[in-house]
Amino acid sequence: MGYFITFEGVEGCGKTTQIKLLSELLTTRGISTVLTREPGGCPIADKIRAILLDAENRSMSPLAELMLYAAARAQHVTEVIYPALESGKIVLCDRFCDATVAYQSFGRGIDRSVIDNLNTQACQGVSPDLTVLVDCDPSVGLERARRRIEATRGPREERFELEALAFHHRVRDGYRQLAADQPDRFLVIDGSDSIKNIYATISKQVLTRIPEALRAIC
Ligand code: TMP
Repeated sequence: MGYFITFEGVEGCGKTTQIKLLSELLTTRGISTVLTREPGGCPIADKIRAILLDAENRSMSPLAELMLYAAARAQHVTEVIYPALESGKIVLCDRFCDATVAYQSFGRGIDRSVIDNLNTQACQGVSPDLTVLVDCDPSVGLERARRRIEATRGPREERFELEALAFHHRVRDGYRQLAADQPDRFLVIDGSDSIKNIYATISKQVLTRIPEALRAIC
């Protein structure tokens, strides 16, 4: 099996920049890497992503939202993540099951046991070996995310950015609690540090942690 790394954090925390930098580093070193994201990562899940993030769908019920995330994940694991891990690749995924706990349980208030059950079904035995949590003050992150949305052409993926600040604080607290509960799996990074420093910490940690057999020419 390969090695599964997920990146998590509140809106605008900088995780997407960091996951791309890490993917470039691993690829340059000749390590077989798949970079993907949730919700999305394959055609059917990308269609579900469009529904989930469309700001016009503000009336979506929390339960419908949860089921759509689970449906997108089930397809993504089947079509992309599991086959890549099975063939010995390193999979880098921008958000995964922890996001559902942080957003739909801590953020929306859905019972944790419902979410854990659905995550178990959707993940089909796949679980992250390492999760990088880029921890960031939600006010700072939201400001960054809004600037990015304004500068992006095409559909405005801002349904979550429009949520109240209190929602984003609950999400951050949720992520921190998950990290505290599983310190061996989580690497918590201070998102207020510079892109360069964050990259240095993440790359060092990842290169130390990935199994010898996958580090062909590290
Ligand atoms: P992104 O902006 O990092 O691409 O993530 C899309 C949004 O989806 C983000 O606001 C977090 C949210 N999300 C959930 O609420 N639950 C989930 O399970 C996932 C994967 C993402």
